Order: sequence, then structure tokens, then C-alpha cells
Amino acid sequence: MELKQSIKDTLGRPMRDLRISVTDRCNFRCPYCMPAEIYGERYQFLPQAQILTFEETTRLTRIFVKLGVNKLRLTGGEPLVRTEVEKLVGMLAKVPGAEDITLTTNGYLLEQKAQALKDAGLQRITVSLDSLNNETFARMNGRGYGTERVLAGIRKAQEVGLWPIKLNCVVMRGVNENDIVDLARHFKGTGVIVRFIEYMDVGNLNGWKLDQVVPAREIVDRISAVFPLEPIDRNYVGEVAERWRYVDGTGEVGVIASVTQPFCANCTRARLSTDGKLFTCLFGTTGKDLKTPMRAGASDDELEALIRGTWGTRTDRYSEMRAALTEKPKKKIEMFQIGG
Ligand code: GTP
Ligand code: 5AD
Ligand code: SF4
Ligand code: SF4
Repeated sequence: MELKQSIKDTLGRPMRDLRISVTDRCNFRCPYCMPAEIYGERYQFLPQAQILTFEETTRLTRIFVKLGVNKLRLTGGEPLVRTEVEKLVGMLAKVPGAEDITLTTNGYLLEQKAQALKDAGLQRITVSLDSLNNETFARMNGRGYGTERVLAGIRKAQEVGLWPIKLNCVVMRGVNENDIVDLARHFKGTGVIVRFIEYMDVGNLNGWKLDQVVPAREIVDRISAVFPLEPIDRNYVGEVAERWRYVDGTGEVGVIASVTQPFCANCTRARLSTDGKLFTCLFGTTGKDLKTPMRAGASDDELEALIRGTWGTRTDRYSEMRAALTEKPKKKIEMFQIGG
């Protein structure tokens, strides 16, 4: 596939992916993202008026695609709690040049939504699942839910042909590190690609500490001790997951080593927050407001210039700099506001 030209940042990195957060709300309270003690019943999520409409999101997406983006990912919060999110999928699927459209969900509402998403033009899906053990999972979703609905959602997605399915598992020391091999075993041979993610210091409130991170190397060793693995090449430059294949030919797993082996050098991801701000890093503190000028009547050319200017001056490489930073950034964006 011939890649179209893209705008480049100060380090020569093109803008290829747009991750669109469609809501800051979520039906889970994962402690590494939205700890329940902080995001309780009275927490003020964004009011309706601050949230981009589907028309606004689609308009901005067209401009991003014109500037080089070819891959779209809907995120949240939890994207399936946004009313009629499949309508937005349908609108985005019609944007010429948006070749890959996918979505990251916690799977809780997936069984009931999978068919509508597929019909609207969603191609594939990524489901988060941190453990198959009901007790551990209950703790990691912060709501006491068991795994059954998520597993039913995955089965349904498979049935309706949302394919390939990837599964994201955030690994935390002392929490779910002993569930890694079980997850690998369960999905080995099913075609579902499980990716284990190092716990990251996104946001300000999860109380992240380095000793809670299980390094990707250790994750691979743990699986390989039971089911031997060998490394395989990345699918594309800038892919965040390092890929490993079962030597017996029953599929692959991935590890996302953003703490121990940062991949900023190839980071091509732009992020649009629920309220229409452009963030150029997951660890950003401020985003470029696109909603206000858009609502004040800015033309497509003017919005394009804002995006060009923001990407063109981009210098972000937080994960590569993390170890060297003597002072932590003051107020980082939260994961549920830009969706990982
Ligand atoms: P594919 O298109 O399926 O390859 O998806 P992807 O590799 O982009 O993966 P996905 O969007 O599911 O990202 C998986 C996880 O990797 C996210 O949930 C984040 O935890 C982490 N991640 C993704 N992008 C970045 C990034 O730019 N920086 C950092 N530090 N972590 C990221
Ligand atoms: N570290 C790593 N991954 C995280 N996610 C959310 N918060 C973190 C974190 N602190 C993951 C979720 C989901 C995706 C959207 O991001 O588990 O798979
Ligand atoms: Fe919700 Fe995803 Fe954050 Fe968990 S990680 S609280 S499922 S947005
Ligand atoms: Fe990209 Fe920022 Fe993640 Fe580095 S830390 S890979 S620049 S999003």
C-alpha cells in the first residue's frame, strides 16, 4: 500500500493515527485509570455541551485524514457508553482515506453492540481484559464485575466478524502477574491476539510506582517457560506491541513495553479528547483547542492550519525522557480523557 504524504513533527515523525475519545465516562473504575475512591458518584464528567457532536468529530477527522492519518481508533472512557456510537462509526467509515477503523472497549456492552458496530463499518476491535480470575478481575475493574460478560462480548465480536480481535491486559506487580500464563493459555489457538501492557504512569491519580511495573521481558519469559515463544517482526513502523509467536504455530502474543523500552522515536499518534482538544502525547499536559475555533466559525483551512501548527512544532518523547526527568509534569491529562 502506497502511503500518502503526511505532515511531520520536529523529529520527522509523520502523523498516521488518530485516536478519538468519544466520552470521558466509563462503566468500570480500573484502579490504574479511574480509581473509584476519586471518581465516585459525584465526580463531574464533561457536560453534554462540551462534548464534540458526531458531525464535529467527523469534520475534524476529514481534516486529519487529509493531513496524513490513515488509521482511526475510537476510545473513551468507554466508547460503548456513548449513545449510538455506531452512528459515528458509520460516519467515519465513509471518510475517504480512513483505511483502518477500530475501537478499544472494556467489553462490558460488547455483546449487545457488536452487530451494530460491524454493520456500521467497524473493521476490528480491541478488548481490555486484565484477568480471567473473577476475583482479580473484580478488583481490576473496580466495580466487582466478573469476566462472563466480557468473554461473551469477545465471542460475539468473533461471531459477527470483527476481526482480528486483540486483547489488552495491563499487568501490575502483585495484582495480576500470576494470571498472565492463564490468559495466554485461554486464547492460544483462537486467533485472538493477547497483548500485555506495562503499567504506565499516565494521569495524576493512580499513584504509579516503578516497582508496580512487570517488565515486558519478564512477561515473555513467564509465558515462554510454559509455551515456548520466538520473536517476530513488527507489522509496521510505529507499532507499539513487540510480537512473539508460539513455536508450536498456535498464534502470537504481544508485549507493550512503554516503560522499559519506550517507542517515542516512531510515535505517529495524534489524540483528540472528548472536548475537542488535540494532544500529541499520552502524557501531555495541554491540548490544542479545536472545538472553540470550530464553533466560532473557523473554516476547514483554518482548522487545518491549527493542526499543522500543532503537529509541526511537536517535540514529545515523554516515555524516553521519563527516567531523566527530575520533576514530574504538573498536571497530565488523564487516560480516560484521551483513551490510551
Ligand atoms: P493496533 O493498531 O492494533 O496495532 O493497535 P495499537 O498497537 O495502536 O494498540 P492500542 O491502540 O490497543 O494500544 C495498546 C496500548 O498501548 C494502549 O492502551 C496504551 O496503553 C499503549 N499505548 C498506545 N499508544 C501509546 C503511545 O503512543 N504511547 C504510550 N506510551 N503508550 C501507548
Ligand atoms: N497503564 C497501562 N495501560 C493503561 N490503560 C489504561 N490505563 C493504563 C495505565 N495506567 C489501558 C487499558 C486499556 C487501554 C485503553 O489503556 O487497560 O486497554
Ligand atoms: Fe474505563 Fe478503560 Fe479506564 Fe478501565 S481503563 S476505567 S475500562 S476507561
Ligand atoms: Fe508517543 Fe508520548 Fe507515548 Fe512517547 S510517550 S510514544 S511521544 S504518546
